[in-house]
Amino acid sequence: MAKVVIENMGSKSIDCLDKKEKLLDILLQETDWLHACGGKGRCTTCKVIITEGMDGLPPLTTPELKYVDLHLLRKNERLACQISVMNDLIIRVPNGSKLPHLNYSA
Ligand code: FES
Repeated sequence: MAKVVIENMGSKSIDCLDKKEKLLDILLQETDWLHACGGKGRCTTCKVIITEGMDGLPPLTTPELKYVDLHLLRKNERLACQISVMNDLIIRVPNGSKLPHLNYSA
């Protein structure tokens, strides 16, 4: 079973029971997470910084490639609504995606 650890939310750990489930859906089971377009790949608010596990992720999707071209998605970032979790991941919430009612650690 793959596991997602959110480094700057006190290393919160979430087990991923279904390898086809999108990262955004996994995150939303345990915490609030920005997703302005509803997971359709039309914004970048669900962006995550991948600290470990990038190699095991599927290739960039068409929406992600568009945001890379627009310099809105860096090499160490993915859109949570576009990727399934196939292996353990360590991620961070980018500063621009932090929610005011949640506490974030360093
Ligand atoms: S929620 Fe808009 S791109 Fe993921």
